[in-house]
Amino acid sequence: MAEKIIVTSALPYANGPIHFGHVVGAYLPADVYVRYRRMCGDDVHFVCGTDEHGVAITLKAEREGTPYEAYVDHWHTTIDDTLRRMGIEFDVFSGTSHHRNPHHRALAQQFFLDLQAEGYLLEKTEEQFFSEALGRFLPDRYVTGTCYLCGHENARGDECPACGKYLDARQLIDPKCSLDGSTPVLRETTHWYLDLGRARDEWLRAWIESKRGQWKPNVENFVLADLEDLRARPITRDLPWGVPVPVDGADGKVLYVWFDAPIGYLSISRQYWTDRGQPERFEELWKDPATKLFHFIGKDNITFHAVVFPTILRGAGKGWILPENVPANEFFNFEGRKFNTSSGWMIPDEAIADVPVDALRYALCTMMPETADSDWTWTEFQARINGDLADNLGNFVSRTLRFIERFFDGEVPACGAETAADGALYAAAERAAAEVREHLSAFRFRRACQAVMALGHECNRYYDTEAPWTSVKTEDGRPRAAQVMRVCVEMIRAFAHLVAPVMPTTSATLFASIGAAGTAPSLDAVGARPTEPGAIPGAPLTSCLPRFTDARGQEKAALFTKFPDQRVAAEEERLRTLREHMEAETQSETPEPTHDPVATTIEFDTFAAVDMRAGTIRRAESHPKADRLLVLEVDLGFETRTIVSGIAASYAPEELVGRRVVAVTNLAPRRLRGIDSNGMLMAGDGDDGKPRLIAPDPATPDGTRLS
Ligand code: 2FM
Ligand code: ZN
Repeated sequence: MAEKIIVTSALPYANGPIHFGHVVGAYLPADVYVRYRRMCGDDVHFVCGTDEHGVAITLKAEREGTPYEAYVDHWHTTIDDTLRRMGIEFDVFSGTSHHRNPHHRALAQQFFLDLQAEGYLLEKTEEQFFSEALGRFLPDRYVTGTCYLCGHENARGDECPACGKYLDARQLIDPKCSLDGSTPVLRETTHWYLDLGRARDEWLRAWIESKRGQWKPNVENFVLADLEDLRARPITRDLPWGVPVPVDGADGKVLYVWFDAPIGYLSISRQYWTDRGQPERFEELWKDPATKLFHFIGKDNITFHAVVFPTILRGAGKGWILPENVPANEFFNFEGRKFNTSSGWMIPDEAIADVPVDALRYALCTMMPETADSDWTWTEFQARINGDLADNLGNFVSRTLRFIERFFDGEVPACGAETAADGALYAAAERAAAEVREHLSAFRFRRACQAVMALGHECNRYYDTEAPWTSVKTEDGRPRAAQVMRVCVEMIRAFAHLVAPVMPTTSATLFASIGAAGTAPSLDAVGARPTEPGAIPGAPLTSCLPRFTDARGQEKAALFTKFPDQRVAAEEERLRTLREHMEAETQSETPEPTHDPVATTIEFDTFAAVDMRAGTIRRAESHPKADRLLVLEVDLGFETRTIVSGIAASYAPEELVGRRVVAVTNLAPRRLRGIDSNGMLMAGDGDDGKPRLIAPDPATPDGTRLS
């Protein structure tokens, strides 16, 4: 039965460009999911816009001397453009500032009042920094001073860059206003807090528990841990930009950006339905218990979507629905570091300018940080484009279409007698559709892509085994060649359906190539025998494939073309130089921290999931393609594994043979410069900063599990 669905993507801050890290976190998966659910016949409402309030925005706009509206408009347009170029098609992309979305202010204020009426807001008076010179309160980020924990002189009011700790701005030593350098004073101010503890005790814990096993494990674990330390959170700020607090005497106070932003999902939806002349649809949708709400976000937004926003929705007591699922992704890095647009640690537009959007979408889906952080590397990207798209799917499609043009005058042959091999391929297609359905329903985008590529391999194998180029040459063989071609065309049709959520343009091209332009993709159709088994004359075949210039400068028609080695090498070289430059800069700028800050607390189960074993290195060689890496054969008692380790700066290969090591054995394999590494060796930096291996006690034999 068709379902009513609302899908939201995290509202990006209108204070900078978005990069692939964002795209792959919350926008691309949402868009793929929406396309998939629409293919299934569901009624989907897909909402997004920019998050336009908050200190990060006021600070930057003020530093630039740009009015707030103009500042957020600029970034709204830039972000909208980036998302469109990635083929992300929201029903509506608006924002939270009043001039863009006249519904937002009133709705956010109504939520505040409803929560207040329901007893969910606590009022507290506290001291906060105030600038007498500017006549305004200073949010924590507007104050700098010396860190009271580590002595770093340039700490921000909310956080210290040297020791990484969250700070209480009021305790900073020698505080200064970051706008004009004046010394602020402490003054009393009143703020409202959302009573999350009450929500937890009354219903939130039970609601979250009821989601066990339905939410992704990374989300579930995070949220359950959150529940243990839930305090009332302030939801108002003293700032000149935002949604005014709807209380008499609260002049100069606005709702905290994290309170009003998720309400943006609703206000943007209300704007959409109102502008379409169906204002009643808004509440019908957002208050119908049958509607399923999905929030696509990055992992840094989990608490707000799985704990805070549900409290706002239910606490308001007006029957708003709660999210069905919050399929958060982990972080996506770029060649081992966080994306950083300002330092240039990002994918330059020109490096991928000629890569079709669909190919980018596909490659990103295969690298998606679904359950753990993941990394864009140029080699991985090239492997996906060349190996999966060009050599596998593209090759199968091109060879089929060309063959039909060459030997059947461009007319797709009618269905002939079916063999067991033909039937097996139809069955494989049906299986692929079932897998795609299963994986996409569970937000496993990588696995869905793999299922499609597995069918690609089967199709190419079928083609090779059937060898139509031989049979077509004899009169007896020609009917078989015709039937093989027809089966291959039916597989192209299957791919057109299967790839539609991830590669919508490619899907349309594939349908067009076999004379089925305009077909609506549907997984139900995959693997079925054609309803019109006759010949298909005059299909466009290769004429509708995109044209590319190949490495030799020649134009050719192909579904996908390869990403050349030289381009990978050039990008890697650019990053090497940039890395050196950035490292030199950090060394000169950052004060030496006294110690590594202790990482975030984890649950015992998370730790226990790491399988560490005692082992012995049996062979060691330099990595042929990377100076930093060694390729090691590690004996774990029960098996020997190849592990690639970044310890070449500390050890010559020959001194490692026979050395005892501690290996993490259940890490997902990683390809490191062309060699698969099946685990990781534990090491710590020596006082020269170079890695030193950790050895188990001699009494623990190889294979012993360490804990
Ligand atoms: O982290 C961010 O980029 C936030 N602007 C996300 C907000 S999501 C929602 F609540 F609006
Ligand atoms: Zn500090």
